[in-house]
Amino acid sequence: MLSEICTRMSLSAALALLGLALGAEAAAGSHPNCASFAPNALTYAAFSKATHYPANVRVNISNAYSSIDVSNLPAFCRVELVITTNATAGSTALTEVWLPDEWNGRVLTVGNGGLAGGVTVTELGHVAVPQGFAGISTNTGHDGTTDDGDWAGPHNDNAIVDWGWRALHLSVLAGKEVVEKYYDRPAWKSYYLGCSTGGRQGLKEVQDFPDDFDGVVVGSPANWQTHLQAWSVHMNLNTEPTTSGHFMTADMWSNVIAPEVMRQCDELDGLKDGIINDPRICSFRPETLTCRPGQNVSTCLQEGQISALHRIYADYYEADQTYVFGGYYPGGETEYYHGLVGQKHFVIGTNYFGYMVTNDTGFTIHDYKASVLKLADQIDPGQANAINPNLTAFAGPEHKGKLIQYVGWADQLISPGNSIHYYETVHGFTLANTTMDIDDYYRLFLVPGMNHCHGGFAANAFGSVEQASNDNPPLSFDPQHNILAAIVRWVEEGVAPDTLTAVNYKDNNVTNGVGFTRPLCRYPSNIRYRGGDPNKAESFHCA
Ligand SMILES: *[C@@H]1O[C@H](CO)[C@@H](O)[C@H](O)[C@H]1NC(C)=O
Ligand SMILES: *[C@@H]1O[C@H](CO)[C@@H](O)[C@H](O)[C@H]1NC(C)=O
Ligand SMILES: *[C@@H]1O[C@H](CO)[C@@H](O)[C@H](O)[C@H]1NC(C)=O
Ligand SMILES: *[C@@H]1O[C@H](CO)[C@@H](O)[C@H](O)[C@H]1NC(C)=O
Ligand SMILES: *[C@@H]1O[C@H](CO)[C@@H](O)[C@H](O)[C@H]1NC(C)=O
Ligand SMILES: *[C@@H]1O[C@H](CO)[C@@H](O)[C@H](O)[C@H]1NC(C)=O
Ligand SMILES: *[C@@H]1O[C@H](CO)[C@@H](O)[C@H](O)[C@H]1NC(C)=O
Repeated sequence: MLSEICTRMSLSAALALLGLALGAEAAAGSHPNCASFAPNALTYAAFSKATHYPANVRVNISNAYSSIDVSNLPAFCRVELVITTNATAGSTALTEVWLPDEWNGRVLTVGNGGLAGGVTVTELGHVAVPQGFAGISTNTGHDGTTDDGDWAGPHNDNAIVDWGWRALHLSVLAGKEVVEKYYDRPAWKSYYLGCSTGGRQGLKEVQDFPDDFDGVVVGSPANWQTHLQAWSVHMNLNTEPTTSGHFMTADMWSNVIAPEVMRQCDELDGLKDGIINDPRICSFRPETLTCRPGQNVSTCLQEGQISALHRIYADYYEADQTYVFGGYYPGGETEYYHGLVGQKHFVIGTNYFGYMVTNDTGFTIHDYKASVLKLADQIDPGQANAINPNLTAFAGPEHKGKLIQYVGWADQLISPGNSIHYYETVHGFTLANTTMDIDDYYRLFLVPGMNHCHGGFAANAFGSVEQASNDNPPLSFDPQHNILAAIVRWVEEGVAPDTLTAVNYKDNNVTNGVGFTRPLCRYPSNIRYRGGDPNKAESFHCA
């Protein structure tokens, strides 16, 4: 559901807030006829259907992965395509392009999540169309939920490659072509927004298809796929099985571990507010929770649990010192149980190794060994890893692409250390091998207290995917509050975002009103309390 705040704002008001002058070639207000739109001879796709949705009618669309049911969208034309991804194999992907009647002249491609499996209609409807963008999204070549893995075969190589990168790249090409035919002129600029697998897809595009986008926003990218999946298994093994001496219940995480983490870490940033602004300055010591003689065992932990916590909060290495992935950071304890250290195995991880790496479809976390990670790195299923630090083709003088990345410090599914790790490899590469300044093309924002892509007890709404659709829309569509407008302004006006302002809604729901606002700081700086009303972003600065 879209927020009152956003729906009360008309598109023209939103565009005015964006503060962006549209080029003559991008003037809004063209109303092509959706009903008769049936392009043939598309280069990359076959047209299947076009459906016009007048403003404010009910839009109720769902697929295996994504759904939307709203009645507050501006008028748009929904075009459905079938992309041929490998003619020899006859493999295809389903792709949709949503074309607003009142177009802002730009295209916005949105990404997917996990191993899915469906056009991301949620974000086409909650982010792209309401802000006037023509939106593009693909099912990545198969239908399925975030967790499903059996579509990959084993040995369904074309489906794996489609998921890895091919369906999205071809969809961007096809989508741009459809946009040009529909409005009779090409899009003025091309943007991307995605989180998690969506973040991985965005980085893959930046690395391999630098011309697809002018501006890219990625959240918590699953870009080091091989290592991320290995880490998820390790995290599961840290606490499994539930009958073991190292398992910790949801109650322990929320009522024993979380308060102790806050006791040790919360005030180090100068403010006791339940948000750890910079977990790097706190070295959490779980051993303070060890049960003492006579202590009520519901209020403390046993040895096995303490050593599990030491592993959970540390970077992970295999026995041969191969670096696997970063650990959890203090600050997300109430959600970590629902992430990788709770009752449930992380199905994406076992499906990945079972269906794409070992081809043992009965693969469980107990079948994992260091050699499985080595095998995964050798195979790199679907070439899904997106870890090339050379972004010169995207960012260099010929293309001048811009990249914004963000991650929540309390991410329960992908360690924020991964975002820092990738950023640092690009930084190192840039210094060693180019004359460019990374600040001119790539900026990383760390979001205190935010869980995976959204949620958590913090200022966690700033215009990215999965936010408006979870009743956490940006406070306004301007570039300070809306990361999509920030990338547009960076690309089109050369004004790089220095800070963003995120909003917390009470109980993470816009209908309850604003709780507080906070700046999001650009790595490596972090938020510091300046003094004054802690509910106002102005009371903080980045240092
Ligand atoms: C909305 O779509 C879902 C899934 O297609 C369907 O089950 C439901 O009946 C639809 N609701 C209405 C009111 O049409
Ligand atoms: C297309 O599919 C065929 C048949 O599976 C395969 O041999 C070929 O390598 C594939 N081509 C590409 C570019 O993936
Ligand atoms: C499993 O299948 C995939 C897809 O065909 C292939 O790339 C991989 O090499 C296979 N793994 C093994 C261990 O044979
Ligand atoms: C032990 O602690 C739990 C949780 O705080 C509490 O509910 C329970 O009553 C305590 N038991 C005793 C015997 O004090
Ligand atoms: C980085 O990529 C660019 C463009 O693809 C290439 O020309 C250049 O040689 C690469 N630089 C290094 C150091 O590999
Ligand atoms: C510089 O580029 C070379 C060639 O691509 C690469 O091997 C090296 O790792 C790069 N340096 C850094 C610090 O990334
Ligand atoms: C937000 O609150 C509204 C009104 O109580 C409710 O209908 C909606 O489901 C809530 N949204 C979420 C994501 O919980």
